Amino acid sequence: MKRRIYYFSGTGNSMRAARVIASALGDTEIISMRTDPKDYPATDCDVVGFVFPVYHWTMPEHAEKFVEGLSVNPNAYVFAVAMPSFILGIALERLAELLAPKGVTLDYGNLVHSVANYVIVYPPFPSPKLRVPRTEKKLKKIAEEIRAGKKRDYPRASRLIKWRMHQFMDPYLELQVYADNPFTVSDDCISCGLCTRVCPCNNLTMEEGKPVFHHHCANCMACVVNCPKRAIGYEINEGDRKLLDASNSKTPLVKIMGLPKGRKLYRNPYITSSDLCKNEEQVSWQNEEKQKKRS
Ligand SMILES: Cc1cc2nc3c(=O)[nH]c(=O)nc-3n(C[C@H](O)[C@H](O)[C@H](O)COP(=O)(O)O)c2cc1C
Ligand code: SF4
Ligand code: SF4
Repeated sequence: MKRRIYYFSGTGNSMRAARVIASALGDTEIISMRTDPKDYPATDCDVVGFVFPVYHWTMPEHAEKFVEGLSVNPNAYVFAVAMPSFILGIALERLAELLAPKGVTLDYGNLVHSVANYVIVYPPFPSPKLRVPRTEKKLKKIAEEIRAGKKRDYPRASRLIKWRMHQFMDPYLELQVYADNPFTVSDDCISCGLCTRVCPCNNLTMEEGKPVFHHHCANCMACVVNCPKRAIGYEINEGDRKLLDASNSKTPLVKIMGLPKGRKLYRNPYITSSDLCKNEEQVSWQNEEKQKKRS
């Protein structure tokens, strides 16, 4: 029995979810959507999972592209878990839509509310101390259901969200190509390169000792929250004309984008920076757990 979970994660919530589910399943490969989907086709998998955050009421674009390029065994048990903070939107509907032309249907779909991580817009909320334990509890329940091969129709957006989606979210989606213009790198940068390794979109390279942004950023927050020197900032200035114009129009969140000095940052407490650097891992979670208990 071959099992594999594909995940996309900026600040670890989705990676943690993938791990909890893999732990319940036993012997499960976990693959980051940062990899090339052609290198890891799921054509020979019996169980295939997708785990990702919700961005702008839908799937992260990067995750969409990954799924588009992935071959999947149409006879596999296929599950998906989205990790929104509050609004799932059409995230799981979009995934189902991408899988349909491959002859693949979602056998199980669910969502787990998680800490909101968009720290260049707001401080993390609700309080991780309160929300993380609740997220963990729901994750374990979901993991058991998936282990049992349960079928579950995926949740869909309400009519209100669908009606408002284009009005509220399309302007933000249009601004995505400018999303990394405002990043700054201060002199506190020690050229460690960690930001380039945690980026799930391969959007960063080191040039002359400093990270350079290549304009296919998901605004996932991984580089910001993992920098050991807090050297990455976010400032919309005169040069970011599109973003400035947007802040005066129908995209009010752009107005408050920035990273004040004392802003709390967030990374899932079960996930380390080096975990986020990984592309893939062969996991025998149950064996690992047993070994831990023995020692
Ligand atoms: C760019 C961006 C957009 C987001 N949009 C939404 C959204 O539309 N709905 C929602 O519930 N959460 C939204 N969030 C919050 C994340 O979906 C949530 O914190 C998620 O658990 C983060 O997962 P990760 O830690 O695996 O990256 C957004 C976060 C970011 C960074
Ligand atoms: S993680 Fe921070 S300190 Fe390290 S290279 Fe990136 S910006 Fe510089
Ligand atoms: S550049 Fe930073 S915010 Fe953008 S996708 Fe990479 S890690 Fe995420």
